[in-house]
Amino acid sequence: MSVREEFDEWAASGKDRGMEERHWHTAKHALARMPIEPGDVVLDLGCGSGYAGRALRETKGAGRVYGLDGAPEMARNAAGYTADPGVGYLVGDFDSLPFAADSIDHVWSMEAFYYAADPHHTLEEIARILRPGGTFYCAVNYYEENVYSHAWQESISIPMTRWDRDQYRSAFHDAGLYVAEQDNVPDREITIPDADEFPTDDWDSREEMVERYREYGTLLTVGVAP
Ligand SMILES: C[S@@+](CC[C@H](N)C(=O)[O-])C[C@H]1O[C@@H](n2cnc3c(N)ncnc32)[C@H](O)[C@@H]1O
Repeated sequence: MSVREEFDEWAASGKDRGMEERHWHTAKHALARMPIEPGDVVLDLGCGSGYAGRALRETKGAGRVYGLDGAPEMARNAAGYTADPGVGYLVGDFDSLPFAADSIDHVWSMEAFYYAADPHHTLEEIARILRPGGTFYCAVNYYEENVYSHAWQESISIPMTRWDRDQYRSAFHDAGLYVAEQDNVPDREITIPDADEFPTDDWDSREEMVERYREYGTLLTVGVAP
């Protein structure tokens, strides 16, 4: 299956909004850290329902926000969730970003970067389009230290890249981005049942669920263009 086929199906079945709801628990904290000045141009890579761009317009006064997604149905849904003329959604691939060099102030991506066919090349593309001093906020829940995420690849046909913290850092460096910050953003909102309710359908023990959400959470790596 291609990115388009896989995620068009997700969009058609409403999974775009489901992801938004879950990812918002940690995404909002990472988005709040972005050093966006009013008027800045922002790109959301793998935007899904497009919630991140809309939030950055509302909370930080981002100027123009683009949401790029490889699945046309995702981009179509995202466009339908807003009437804001400052937000635009487009279909494109992480392999070749349709933006001029030095044209974007900040790039955001949540739970999407690891689907890139060639993540090193995608980082080079991001470094190319960022203005000097621009940032890339890369948030992922699928990563090596989060052992609870490892099985996700079995349920999706798109190859996923599972890097650890150090691999993210060195890949950013190789692409010419400084790493300004790397952090685990915990999900403090998901409800964790009492111990006597385990095992559940998804979790053997409460300790594992606590580790997954409250400790590992979302891995955030922040790159800065020189
Ligand atoms: C798991 S969803 C996350 C969506 C959204 N960022 C969120 O936080 O809910 C991943 C998104 O990335 C998009 N995507 C995956 N691989 C892509 C690629 N190579 N180029 C462009 N978009 C891609 C998918 O279509 C999908 O909408």
